[in-house]
Amino acid sequence: METHEKGFFTEENSVEVVTGRNANARDPRLKQVMEVITRKLHEAVKEIEPTQDEWFKAIMYLTQTGHLCNEWRQEFILLSDVLGVSMLVDAINNRKPSGASESTVLGPFHVADAPELPMGANICLDQKGEDMVIHGRILDIDGRPVANAVLDVWQANDEGFYDVQQKGIQPDFNLRGVFRTGEDGRYWFRAVKPKFYPIPDDGTVGELLAGLGRHPYRPAHLHFILKADGFETLTTHIFDPHDPYINSDAVFGVKESLLAEFKRVDDAVRARELEFSGWFWEVEYDFVLAPSKKS
Ligand code: BEZ
Ligand code: FE
Repeated sequence: METHEKGFFTEENSVEVVTGRNANARDPRLKQVMEVITRKLHEAVKEIEPTQDEWFKAIMYLTQTGHLCNEWRQEFILLSDVLGVSMLVDAINNRKPSGASESTVLGPFHVADAPELPMGANICLDQKGEDMVIHGRILDIDGRPVANAVLDVWQANDEGFYDVQQKGIQPDFNLRGVFRTGEDGRYWFRAVKPKFYPIPDDGTVGELLAGLGRHPYRPAHLHFILKADGFETLTTHIFDPHDPYINSDAVFGVKESLLAEFKRVDDAVRARELEFSGWFWEVEYDFVLAPSKKS
């Protein structure tokens, strides 16, 4: 009797033997997921034909990636980000009706308890950077204003750092805020123009990017989470289309529809009204929320 007829593992029948062993899995979803992963992983190993040393290097890479994870840092999410998997999972889970604003990655720098501020507040607490006013509307897909929508915004400063990366240098909650729309669905607030920045690149993900000849930068952006009763929560960014990294975001988060115009305004009267000292940047951007899937 041949080896494969007894069901022993061979190079040729590896997928069937392993998936066959999982036949009694209690959870059908786990069974399906492991069937796909086994098939694709064995296919990759058969194509790559790693040496024992290469396979050990891969195991140690993942081990080190795990060791870097703690309460503040999640190197596996970062790995998923630079592999394009975070954006793929985001796309699959956020298919929107036509006209609704698109989503993008959350990233690691959101904080849950940013202060709720009056509309128009300046979220820049250290007076550093180039003044910027942002305004627009939060609408439904029929163009009607969404009242009582909560807009949670956070951004890096003009040197490319979030407040949580510079504790003791930037004030707590610098460049963060939560705003609530009125009946007109309008929002506006003041801030400073954000700058591009590198994703954390002093760990295994940075090592991989360097090995692949890739830079770690994300183009300048503002993050938003928008919530309103009766609508799907939207996690998104708006980007500066003139940023040097706009076509090479390290985590693939840029979408055409998320490019906003950052307009330089030289208007002394408006600057005074906004309590800015000179020229400033102006961004206008409307968000369109998709109706909630659960009715
Ligand atoms: C961010 O935009 O904050 C971000 C997203 C993914 C990885 C690192 C940072
Ligand atoms: Fe960011």
